[in-house]
Amino acid sequence: MENKVKQTGTSTISIDGAEPVEFPVLSGSMGQPAIDVRALSKHTGHFTFDPGYTSTCSTESQITFIDGAKGQLLYRGYPIEQLAEKSTFLEVAYLLINGELPNKTEYKSFSDTITNHTMLHDQIESFFHGFRRDSHPMAMLTGTVGALSGFYHDDQHTTEDEARNLAIHRIIAKIPTLAARCYKYRIGQPHVYPQNDLSYAGNFLRMCFAVPAEPYEVNPVIEKAMDKIFILHADHEQNASTSTVRLAGSSGANPYACIAAGTACLWGPSHGGANEAALNMLGEIGTVDRIPEFIARAKDKSDPFRLMGFGHRVYKSMDPRATVMRKTTHEVLGELGITNPVLEVAMELEKIATNEDYFVKRGLYPNVDFYSGIVLSALGFPTDMFTVLFALARTTGWISQWNEMLEDPSQRIGRPRQLYTGAPERDYVSIGER
Ligand code: SDX
Repeated sequence: MENKVKQTGTSTISIDGAEPVEFPVLSGSMGQPAIDVRALSKHTGHFTFDPGYTSTCSTESQITFIDGAKGQLLYRGYPIEQLAEKSTFLEVAYLLINGELPNKTEYKSFSDTITNHTMLHDQIESFFHGFRRDSHPMAMLTGTVGALSGFYHDDQHTTEDEARNLAIHRIIAKIPTLAARCYKYRIGQPHVYPQNDLSYAGNFLRMCFAVPAEPYEVNPVIEKAMDKIFILHADHEQNASTSTVRLAGSSGANPYACIAAGTACLWGPSHGGANEAALNMLGEIGTVDRIPEFIARAKDKSDPFRLMGFGHRVYKSMDPRATVMRKTTHEVLGELGITNPVLEVAMELEKIATNEDYFVKRGLYPNVDFYSGIVLSALGFPTDMFTVLFALARTTGWISQWNEMLEDPSQRIGRPRQLYTGAPERDYVSIGER
């Protein structure tokens, strides 16, 4: 990766009337400005204070760009709407990793490489049998992704391109097999091995829904919807789980441990766990006439309830992925002839909330998780598998960002500072004198 941030100006900081100190103003390729404060503590003895990194760029990146005001999402410059309609997940994976869309030869070589890494070491099987059958699939995925580092030692020298590429291909190839294995173990069915003549999405669907007792045909409409859902979830700038992967990777931790860290972070209901929480919430609302009661709870500061699937740290307008997801939901339900009362509640809730001053004023709109639960349950997945599917798709974004970080000449171990407000220095008092 070549660093491309440009200095476009300067800012001066004068603290309590002290001599002003100049700091460069940098700009990214889409024009967003940032003050370069890397030398702030050296020149002023001060740190910035920014819990949650609301105003902090933690890195330079050339992979994904979001304009929260416009509801714009670009993967390597290509709008998500175009990729969702015209591309495939594996082509998007190539794009995120390499920066350009592949030509036919490049695509064939990449997809063949991924296909040839889809199987798991057979001893991984024993890890699953250590879990209770009713363990949450995300507990199983988090544990088994990390366990992969115990099976592959030839791809952990992250300073070598060849080793990094091998790890990237293995992780992208094996995550659907692991995810399907979590599901099969959960429902007490035998696991289904990958079948190399199927697409990435088709292979995953077959590993989830085929049983040895009967033939299984991939439904092309469901396969296309699954592939599109993977594209929508593939990457999203420096969100909580991606930042976790980067921070873990900055210490030189092996790629499987880094992906396990990101998986654990994604599980939270404020992040990737929101798709499961949103569908549960829509089920709790149950009928359109109960929507006002839940809107009132969401606005009530004394009530911890929030509208799951609504709001976003960056999008202050409609999440473009939610728009594509809503369309996909209608396509899948229509194709499968499913009428789902929850969809009616979701549509009405979106209409009411996006016209309610409390939400409009705060820029709270449906995000990617609002509709995904409805379409995923229509595809046949239980609610506790939704975040596993999110992690499956986001693994490609995580490993692309991990790779970019290791190739970034300016990267160093991540080590945020803090504002200490604890006890000042004091002497120990023995227990008899306390
Ligand atoms: C994902 O970062 C990413 O890119 C994440 C993601 C990705 O692809 O990686 O896009 C995936 O995580 C999507 C978000 C999924 N989470 C949810 O749907 C959970 C519900 N949403 C909220 O928890 C919340 O909106 C967050 C966590 C998503 C964003 O939190 P912020 O930016 O910290 O928002 P905030 O807490 O500063 O909220 C601002 C105001 C507050 O009210 P005031 O103090 O101004 O009066 O909006 C309110 C909040 O109380 N608010 C909500 C709300 N979300 C924010 N009120 C009701 N319901 C909500 N959902």
